Amino acid sequence: MNVKEMFNLSGEKAIVTGAAQGLGEQMALALAEAGADVAVVDINIEGADGVAESIRDLGRDSFSIEADVTKISDVENMTKAVKARFNKIDILINNAGIVNNVPAEEMSKKEWDKVIGVNLSGVFFCAQIVGREMIAQKKGNIINISSMSGLIVNRPQSQIHYNTSKAGVIMITRSLAAEWAKYNIRVNAIAPGYMRTPLVDKVFPEYGKDWSSLIPMGRIGDPSEIKGPALFLASRASSFVTGSVLIMDGGYTIW
Ligand SMILES: NC(=O)c1ccc[n+]([C@@H]2O[C@H](COP(=O)([O-])OP(=O)(O)OC[C@H]3O[C@@H](n4cnc5c(N)ncnc54)[C@H](O)[C@@H]3O)[C@@H](O)[C@H]2O)c1
Repeated sequence: MNVKEMFNLSGEKAIVTGAAQGLGEQMALALAEAGADVAVVDINIEGADGVAESIRDLGRDSFSIEADVTKISDVENMTKAVKARFNKIDILINNAGIVNNVPAEEMSKKEWDKVIGVNLSGVFFCAQIVGREMIAQKKGNIINISSMSGLIVNRPQSQIHYNTSKAGVIMITRSLAAEWAKYNIRVNAIAPGYMRTPLVDKVFPEYGKDWSSLIPMGRIGDPSEIKGPALFLASRASSFVTGSVLIMDGGYTIW
């Protein structure tokens, strides 16, 4: 197979969660630009509508689904809706995620549960429920969005729940890769460093200067820089890759 064919996703059907903005939006566009039809999932339905429209403008099929990844019934309805529209699900990108900064000694149970609920349990519920369809198809590709925070402790901000959730996403990835390789399902993770999305914009004025000095490349990432790594993992270019964590952090985790 030549290289262009390897990266071609024509005929593939994908779901991207948390795709109304930020990295999810960029990955949804990347899959569509490579030929896939994409379901755009988010709690922010207006944002998801806009992204789905942009994908249709590219000539691919796309629709938005309002779903909260922490609610099993929402995830089941999402899966049914995608099956009904696309007939199959080849690619799932588990991207929905949240963060806030609280010192460990002050963190409430509510704050802990919320971040673990979306970032860790949400990834598992989506993988499990969509994974059952992929098992039945004997084909699937799951990409979980972890973070460099699953590998290192960020500074100066305190975010123990976030770091723990993202480390857990790496172990969900490795566990599912091991369990589901026999069903022809690959499961990989991307661990981004700081990327200038709405999630980071909120705290960039406070921390941006400190962060840049900790990054060998001397800058944070542009959201569009996740398109290449996502396409690599979503496509046949990575056909022998499973259980891996692709770090894209401008070198942050080297130092
Ligand atoms: N931006 C970064 O620097 C960075 C770095 C490493 C990892 N990440 C991870 O990348 C992912 C995307 O981050 P981003 O920066 O694009 O964030 P973002 O806040 O810009 O976008 C996240 C999206 O997820 C949606 N969302 C939140 N909770 C949801 C839920 N319960 N169900 C469904 N959708 C939900 C939001 O509505 C939003 O559209 C997250 O998992 C984040 O932890 C981001």
